[in-house]
Amino acid sequence: MIFAANFKCNHTRSSTQSYISTLSELIKSDTSHECFVFPPATALLASTPNVTIGVQNAYMAQNGAYTGEIGLEQLDEFGIKTILIGHSERREILGESQEIVAKKFQYFTENGFKIIYCIGEPLEIRESGFDSVMEYLTEQFIGIDINYPNLIVAYEPIWAIGTGRSATIDEITITHKALKSIVSVPLLYGGSVNLSNIKEISSIDEVDGVLVGSASLDAVKFYELIRSC
Ligand code: 13P
Repeated sequence: MIFAANFKCNHTRSSTQSYISTLSELIKSDTSHECFVFPPATALLASTPNVTIGVQNAYMAQNGAYTGEIGLEQLDEFGIKTILIGHSERREILGESQEIVAKKFQYFTENGFKIIYCIGEPLEIRESGFDSVMEYLTEQFIGIDINYPNLIVAYEPIWAIGTGRSATIDEITITHKALKSIVSVPLLYGGSVNLSNIKEISSIDEVDGVLVGSASLDAVKFYELIRSC
């Protein structure tokens, strides 16, 4: 299983450092799972042997006049080679269009990054039926090379993110099955994953891992999630 922790706009540089040393220590002998942590850009640090550090976002440039952004040069300093692209919060709150997302995707493939590419539908699409869901999700693959060898896809229904209401086991199973017929890469589920639902979610055949927000913010609790699978 793949376990990815997305801190979003949480944690500081110092709290991230102690988080990573705690988590690395806890999982040190456990090689059965792959673990990623995505801290905020101000708290980037080098990966450890058992925790890969990735960046939540970056601009598609080496460096340059892109106020407020970070580029490849800043990531190189920390040896970062993993990035989240297409998270719904960037699409919805920061206004990243599919065109921008696809450009970013292409740039980071050219630079050999491991990409966790996020897709997910809003509630009104989910409520208008499964065909609409799949149509919406398929459009989020426009401009994306789904055969990129270093690709992981994360399905995160927007209505399940940070709401405490995860998708049901049936909804995850059916959606992941349909996605697996489009992409043949590891597929993560994200959206209110926590200690009470991780066992059931991780036992779905088509779920290769989870992308976790709030339930990942405490290193010991995140490790409990990992250990319970
Ligand atoms: P929550 O686990 O807080 O619902 O967030 C999920 C998410 O958006 C991870 O990228």
